[in-house]
Amino acid sequence: MNKSVGILGIGSCLPEKVLTNFDLEKMVDTNNEWILQRTGISERRILDKESPAYEVGVQAAKRAIDSAGITAEDIDLIIVSTETPDYLAPSTACIIQREIGASKAAAFDVNAACTGFVYGITVAQQFILSGMYRYVLVVGCEALSKVIDWEDRNTCVLFGDGAGAAVLGTVEAGYGILKTYISADGSLGQSVTIPGCHMTEADIEKRIHENKKVIWMDGSEVFKFAVRAAAQAVQKVLDDYGMSMDDVKLIIPHQANIRIMQGIAKKLNVSIEKIYSIIHKYGNVSSASIPLALDEIVREKKISKGDNIVVVGFGGGLTWGATLIKWNIEI
Ligand code: ACO
Repeated sequence: MNKSVGILGIGSCLPEKVLTNFDLEKMVDTNNEWILQRTGISERRILDKESPAYEVGVQAAKRAIDSAGITAEDIDLIIVSTETPDYLAPSTACIIQREIGASKAAAFDVNAACTGFVYGITVAQQFILSGMYRYVLVVGCEALSKVIDWEDRNTCVLFGDGAGAAVLGTVEAGYGILKTYISADGSLGQSVTIPGCHMTEADIEKRIHENKKVIWMDGSEVFKFAVRAAAQAVQKVLDDYGMSMDDVKLIIPHQANIRIMQGIAKKLNVSIEKIYSIIHKYGNVSSASIPLALDEIVREKKISKGDNIVVVGFGGGLTWGATLIKWNIEI
């Protein structure tokens, strides 16, 4: 009998501070109508300046471990997806390992920007299938507020902070991850950048205000790529498994813009009701957005054991990918 890998437990955590579109109106030349119409976002959660991102990551991880019915000592590997690590070293995964007391776990970060959670669960699946590890914790942990130019209306209205986590392990054959696909095209990488240890003259020129260590993106290029790549990835996992869109209960995309979700629905020829959205209340939380949405879906009992769902990510890198899951937990 073939081994299957699935999600055993899920959790999330958001900062308490809410930043509304009306708050942003007081900070930059923007307005609620523009933000709502162009993005679907009403508000987002923001960490305090003094608070590191790992704090929400730790809470999300603890909730996922509890919901899996195991303890932190049972975890063999921690994979954190983040493009906003608190430190370049140590990794956020090592910090979370320390904070939750997962003393026997190996730990590393994955940076695939907004596709990070799809990359993370795909890597986790390989370790479990190979027999090397039994329980892998994957955490999407992000603090975009710390890399935003709060004077740049093109980007500061789009993002938020938060974390979502999942524990993966073996499940009943035929359930869990049925197909997964990850991809990248580094030749398009300059369309969304966050500087690390190095910056070119071009990077500096693009950032028009004093703070240069901030996100920059070509919004319309990323938008077109996102619709195309997400639709292709969803179709690919379905085709590779031999399943049709009619068999899928929900598609859970990375939450970047409601118009991107409408574009994906149109390209896939599905009703927008099939595309799950939390964009209005949290904005774009990069790699945390998919596990945040999944946690809400589970808590609100919007899926049942046996339902097929597809999670699909796209973002900086550029990267993209999708995972087809037959939900394996009785809720
Ligand atoms: N308020 C008011 N006006 C604004 C604002 C704002 N917050 N932001 C931009 N504008 C203006 C622009 O200056 C422009 O004005 P102009 O015509 O006078 O020059 C006008 O609105 C239209 O701007 P566009 O960029 O054409 O607006 P568009 O409809 O393309 O929406 C957006 C922009 C929301 C950024 C969209 O392109 C988008 O969502 N792109 C994808 C972003 C994404 O998915 N990122 C994911 C990857 S990010 C990552 O990996 C971290």
